Amino acid sequence: MNRFSGKIVLVTGGSRNTGLDIVQKFADEGAKVFMCGSSPESTAAGAASLKERGCTGIRSIPCNVSDLTQVKNLFDVIEKEAGRLDILVNNAAHQGIGKPFTEMSPDYLMEVLGVNVRGGFQVTQQAVNRFFLKQPERGVVVFLSSNTAMRAIRNRTAYCASKGAINSMVRALALDLGPLGIRVNACAPGYIYTERWDRLPEEIKERRRLNCPLRKEASGRDIANVVAFLASEDSSNMTGEIVTCDAGCSCQHMPEDVDR
Ligand SMILES: NC(=O)c1ccc[n+]([C@@H]2O[C@H](COP(=O)([O-])OP(=O)(O)OC[C@H]3O[C@@H](n4cnc5c(N)ncnc54)[C@H](OP(=O)(O)O)[C@@H]3O)[C@@H](O)[C@H]2O)c1
Repeated sequence: MNRFSGKIVLVTGGSRNTGLDIVQKFADEGAKVFMCGSSPESTAAGAASLKERGCTGIRSIPCNVSDLTQVKNLFDVIEKEAGRLDILVNNAAHQGIGKPFTEMSPDYLMEVLGVNVRGGFQVTQQAVNRFFLKQPERGVVVFLSSNTAMRAIRNRTAYCASKGAINSMVRALALDLGPLGIRVNACAPGYIYTERWDRLPEEIKERRRLNCPLRKEASGRDIANVVAFLASEDSSNMTGEIVTCDAGCSCQHMPEDVDR
């Protein structure tokens, strides 16, 4: 398929794990892709990984999405080099890992929300105001949410709250931007195999798989396929949707080994 031939795409958080697969998916289908990581080092490392995969022509620009000045600079570069933007993928995320609620400072909560909620908000606002509303073909936004917005995980209060906020923001944006011709949807993954899984003991990996009716976690490519669908004309009548991609995890009350 070559659904994105000639399209200009921005993927935030394109420097690692799932972001790399999303960047690659759009590039493989003909798009010119801009991507950012949060720092010059991580962005350069991401660019090198993409090159190693044979994914060429990617423009990588460091941008901490929680910092409005950096976000504006990112869009300045896109404006100068591409003059338009067709698809925005808000993938960048602060994972908010490893802080039990009793030890989580309000500042940490704001740090996580700063990346996941404020970041997605202000990147989307720049995309809409600077490009989409000025283009006859408008544009499309895809957020990366999480099934943890609906079914929480432990010691991740800030992260779960941020993903719940993203789901609400997607619906609110769909109402505000739908009449202007702009679609906004989200993909809500469950387990995705990332480099963090490499550090897990085998029995934990297997137990996680048992938690999934399909008995497997997603690959980054699985998620990229859903993101690409939501960004493409194939989903042209969809907006405000949160599309879950979690191997069926969310539809079960209890995993099989305790469901007796
Ligand atoms: N992994 C899962 O199992 C899972 C499950 C459900 C939902 N999700 C969601 O799916 C998406 C991808 O997940 P992932 O596990 O691949 O993510 P990840 O490995 O944590 O990578 C996050 C990406 O976001 C970037 N990032 C973090 N803070 C940023 C900031 N302030 N400004 C700009 N970029 C920033 C990172 O860049 P640096 O390299 O600079 O840090 C990195 O490229 C995320 O939205 C995540 O919440 C993941």
